[in-house]
Amino acid sequence: MADKLFLHALLISFLFAAPRAYSERRPVFRATMTRTEKTINFTRAARKSHDRLSILAARLAANAGGVSAQTPLQKMDGAGEYGMTFSIGTPPQELSAVADTGSDLVWVKCGACAHCAPQGSPSYYPNTSSSFSKLPCSSGLCGNLKANSLATCGAGGAECDYKYLYGLAASSDHYTKGYLGSETFTLGGDAVRGIGFGCTTMSEGGYGTGSGLVGLGRGPLSFVRQLKVGAFSYCLSGDPSKTSPLLFGSGALTGAGVQSTPLISGASPSYTVNLKSISIGAKTTLGTGDNGIIFDSGTTLTFLAEPAYTRAKAVLLSQTNLPLAASSDGSDDVCFQTTGGSVEVPSMVLHFDGADMDLPADNFFLPVGGGVICWIVQKSPSISIVGNIMQMNYHIRYDVDNSVLSFQPANCDRL
Ligand SMILES: *[C@@H]1O[C@H](CO)[C@@H](O)[C@H](O)[C@H]1NC(C)=O
Ligand SMILES: *[C@@H]1O[C@H](CO)[C@@H](O)[C@H](O)[C@H]1NC(C)=O
Repeated sequence: MADKLFLHALLISFLFAAPRAYSERRPVFRATMTRTEKTINFTRAARKSHDRLSILAARLAANAGGVSAQTPLQKMDGAGEYGMTFSIGTPPQELSAVADTGSDLVWVKCGACAHCAPQGSPSYYPNTSSSFSKLPCSSGLCGNLKANSLATCGAGGAECDYKYLYGLAASSDHYTKGYLGSETFTLGGDAVRGIGFGCTTMSEGGYGTGSGLVGLGRGPLSFVRQLKVGAFSYCLSGDPSKTSPLLFGSGALTGAGVQSTPLISGASPSYTVNLKSISIGAKTTLGTGDNGIIFDSGTTLTFLAEPAYTRAKAVLLSQTNLPLAASSDGSDDVCFQTTGGSVEVPSMVLHFDGADMDLPADNFFLPVGGGVICWIVQKSPSISIVGNIMQMNYHIRYDVDNSVLSFQPANCDRL
């Protein structure tokens, strides 16, 4: 392992020839994810990532305290960062919705939806689909929502009326509400019948620019669990203007460089692993241990809780021979001034339980203009998160059935 990496002209392309992963027993449904912003603005990414961090942390705290697990959604604009394209209904109506590994419920704006956020995005119309039906209050999915005080019975039991709140308090003005339905979802060319989803008739808050949200978390309501595919994977392209493959039911990763680590079980729908230590250059510092770190598709930057953050920052600073650049907004971002061209930075390796992630320089430094590069790792007052920049150019597989997270360096265009 090299202690130093070169950041070439502030833009490296890592083109590993990774073999395609096939599932032997289960179907692979193919979808695509697209970044809602084509270029990453560090200042805006930092603000949005901090908002996202607060939401995930609040949800985790609520789960730990036994409070009903509400708030699967984000309140900031463009929160999800990645939109997933799919069709719903017969004949199919194409929509894009935020793909979110941090929550469970699948929902879309339904019908006229005059008081629905996000405004301006298309709705799904159940009245023009022959495959739509309402899910009754006796359905399993409704039972799950009711158990968390997120739904009530309507229309004499024929309807399951949900109201999902943002934040932790019932007073929140961030919510999505409607009734549960069952529909045919089409991914790529494959139609899957009987997916339970929320037909939203009213919502407030921010959900990016799409028509709803596709929960990819670990709970029973999630799209992954409903597809009964056991696992899913994605590969986020290092080029934010490209689409990224999202594969449901993908088989185990094979070939060179596959690393696997157990998912820590817990009440949260999020995917959490144990980060034992972090190597930066020639030095190794402590990780987040049993508190874990969440792999999240909806957070752009990466967060480390204390004391891991401060120690890692010190180790980075002691081994980087570049002048510090004042960050634009006076926060404690770690940014360096370069003269352009090829820049030498220390390597960074995440040591998970049984798996090492030897990161390309592009996955932890972001050019912000004027020859300045910023470390994408931020200090967290609560939980730790591996955000989506750090995950780029890896094929990342979430084995939900067996609670294992695997990853492999990959050329996302070839999956
Ligand atoms: C980045 O975002 C901030 C805050 O939204 C904005 O003020 C700034 O102009 C943006 N920078 C660029 C280069 O677009
Ligand atoms: C479906 O419902 C919308 C309003 O939600 C209405 O404008 C439209 O005419 C309806 N279409 C049909 C075929 O009934």
